[in-house]
Amino acid sequence: MNAIETQNLSKNYRIGRQQIPVVDKLNLNVPKGIVFGFLGPNGAGKTTTIRMLCGVTKPSSGTATVAGISLKEPDSVKASIGYANQAASVYHDLSLEENLRFKASIYLPRSEIKAAVEDVLERFSLTEHRKVLAGQLSGGWRQRLLLGTAMVHHPSLIFLDEPTANVDPIGRRELWDLIYSLSLEGVTVFVSTHYMEEAERCHQLAMIASGKVLAQGTPESLRRATPGYFYRLEPDNLSEGLKAARQLDDVRDAWISSNSVRLSSLSPLHETELEGKQLEPVMPSLEDSFVHLASGGSLKEASL
Ligand SMILES: Nc1ncnc2c1ncn2[C@@H]1O[C@H](COP(=O)(O)OP(=O)(O)OP(=O)(O)O)[C@@H](O)[C@H]1O
Ligand SMILES: [Mg+2]
Repeated sequence: MNAIETQNLSKNYRIGRQQIPVVDKLNLNVPKGIVFGFLGPNGAGKTTTIRMLCGVTKPSSGTATVAGISLKEPDSVKASIGYANQAASVYHDLSLEENLRFKASIYLPRSEIKAAVEDVLERFSLTEHRKVLAGQLSGGWRQRLLLGTAMVHHPSLIFLDEPTANVDPIGRRELWDLIYSLSLEGVTVFVSTHYMEEAERCHQLAMIASGKVLAQGTPESLRRATPGYFYRLEPDNLSEGLKAARQLDDVRDAWISSNSVRLSSLSPLHETELEGKQLEPVMPSLEDSFVHLASGGSLKEASL
């Protein structure tokens, strides 16, 4: 059985006089033990989906099984999963150690709490800071604590809602190392993000926008399934290169990326020269896939 299975899972919110679907008939299958990315822009419905899957918000319609338990039993779901929410909600007036102990005491028998807290302190390199108040931690350390509180009771599935927001690149890499280490132990990690480079790190991902899943697959399969031809050009003058690229027949889009011009085309342009330079074919990126899907396009393969 998969770690998560949803069937037409939906949530409507009243906005003005209307009931608007912010999550619209979501069908997801998340295999056990993988890092599953949930990629979508602001307002796409990521947090709402996670809150439903954690048993915090009741779906308007549809069903789901989370860690083998029906969402109709939200309390059992809550005890079987870990949830690090977007608001970095640790208790600021409690020390790091007290935060962990408090969370562990909700779901673990008394005799197991001490060992569980020590395990997280050690594994997340938090031992040195155990007495520090959570409110005094920097953003990266607070996120690390939040991840610790999400897994202190040894759940088989954890939900991380944008765990690396406001974390610097080194802290971000460290958090990802911890995420992988959990996955290597068989824990399923469901992680939302709007960063493409984080989506690349996931074993599988779903792209969502306006409450709908646009596609689901491995990062590689999603990139490969993006239709069109993609090129890179390194002109001496970027803005001239961009202008020339946009004037080519069949060019769908052209944009500047770092010190090069990237472009996508409906037809092959392999031998084409622009501004005295040859176009270099490149693989579409995840961003290319996402932009294509979000603007109403579809992917090449029927099933990814
Ligand atoms: N309690 C609520 N009442 C009404 N509308 C809501 C409520 N919660 C969320 N929404 C709306 O639902 C939509 C989806 O919000 P959600 O927070 O799930 O998006 P998100 O993908 O997590 O975005 P972000 O990347 O900004 O965190 C948004 O338009 C939001 O304004
Ligand atoms: Mg959110």
